[in-house]
Amino acid sequence: MQYDLDAVRRRFPALSISDSDTPRIYFDNPGGTQVPQGVVDAIRDCLVEANANIGGGFATSNRVDEIVAGAHAAMADMLNASSPDEIVFGQNMTTITLHLSRSIGRQLHPGDEIILSRMDHDANVNPWLLMARDHGVTVRWLPFNTETFEFDLPELDELLTDKTRLVCVCGASNLTGTINDTRAICERARAAGAWTYIDAVQSVPHVATDVQDMGCDFLVCSAYKFFGPHQGILYGRRAVLEQLEPYKVRPAPEQIPGAFETGTQNHEGMAGTIATVDYFAWIGATMAQQYQEKYEHMSRRANHVHAALDYLFEYEASLAKRLIDGLQSLPGVKVQGITATDAMDRRAPTVAFTAEGALPEVVAMELAQRNIFLWSGHNYAVEVVNALGLMDKGGVVRVGPVHYNSDDEIDRLLLELDHILPQVRAA
Ligand SMILES: Cc1ncc(COP(=O)(O)O)c(C=O)c1O
Repeated sequence: MQYDLDAVRRRFPALSISDSDTPRIYFDNPGGTQVPQGVVDAIRDCLVEANANIGGGFATSNRVDEIVAGAHAAMADMLNASSPDEIVFGQNMTTITLHLSRSIGRQLHPGDEIILSRMDHDANVNPWLLMARDHGVTVRWLPFNTETFEFDLPELDELLTDKTRLVCVCGASNLTGTINDTRAICERARAAGAWTYIDAVQSVPHVATDVQDMGCDFLVCSAYKFFGPHQGILYGRRAVLEQLEPYKVRPAPEQIPGAFETGTQNHEGMAGTIATVDYFAWIGATMAQQYQEKYEHMSRRANHVHAALDYLFEYEASLAKRLIDGLQSLPGVKVQGITATDAMDRRAPTVAFTAEGALPEVVAMELAQRNIFLWSGHNYAVEVVNALGLMDKGGVVRVGPVHYNSDDEIDRLLLELDHILPQVRAA
């Protein structure tokens, strides 16, 4: 594959920063990505040229009206929603989920059941536990197989009953990197008459996402995980969103999406999010022509964005493979996730590992001193780390390459780990 990594990296000003002559290596991407220059410019332009509230009829306000409409349209393209009205902006995924759980909770009754997963980030777990507590709803748990790091879908079939009202699962795990078959999960839930709430925070940065094809009722993601600003985004299927009572102030719009967008929005974030979607469209248009045919039925920008993600997925899979192979060759290191070479399409490049005799936090700190950035611990994936029996061992070290990382950066990390791990063990 002819991937012009240099052209991509040149777009991201943060990637060329060094500290005391040591280049920064960003493997902290599952916790938040760097942004292309277009995003920086769009945020700046919004703050300078369109710094007003919406609906005022004067120049700055008109401009911000365009940005708000443009951001809904851009995210509708990114997720292939059937209408920009199905896109709701908010502060972040967690806040959106806590907010929406209040409206969903009003629809549930004692004795109803919801299904939560042991693979999810706590932002797709505790909002629902709190909702279940408040409304007398029963929680059923979908485990994942700790050998394969995947769900066994027949287990979901056993949990689904005519009382199930909601199924909450992730598109991809923020810890193990496993990508779930959300289409199959949504199909099963729908057949049982349940809604689906997909936490796609870790899949949207890596996988072309088509909410219509997936058949979900809700899907949430965060722009700062896919090269944009700090902003959360919800897709809600119109027919379902319109059934919910929005918790809102009285003068706010009654219609979707405004009814669910509480208070003044982050307009500069929306401007940045449009630029993020346009960044993917640029990749799709200039590098991923061979992937466009599959998405011919979509609008031009949606086509390019989806083609870009398919294209980048291949490159990211090669990074993941290199990283996993390298980690597995280090003595005492265990990858906590899918490792089979022929299964790279079932995982994101997010790779968690543990190293015998080395605390994850200490390894991460040693790497930080060498300007290699990554996260350790439970990463809010409390259920996952508990299921893997790693909570009292300090969790994992999580390496999260994305499409702007290089083979050289992976090799540098592996080299450093080769030095660091024996030292940490000996200390
Ligand atoms: C899978 C997953 N879900 C939800 C969240 C929470 O996202 P936010 O920071 O937008 O609330 C994260 C953040 O790391 C995540 O990785």
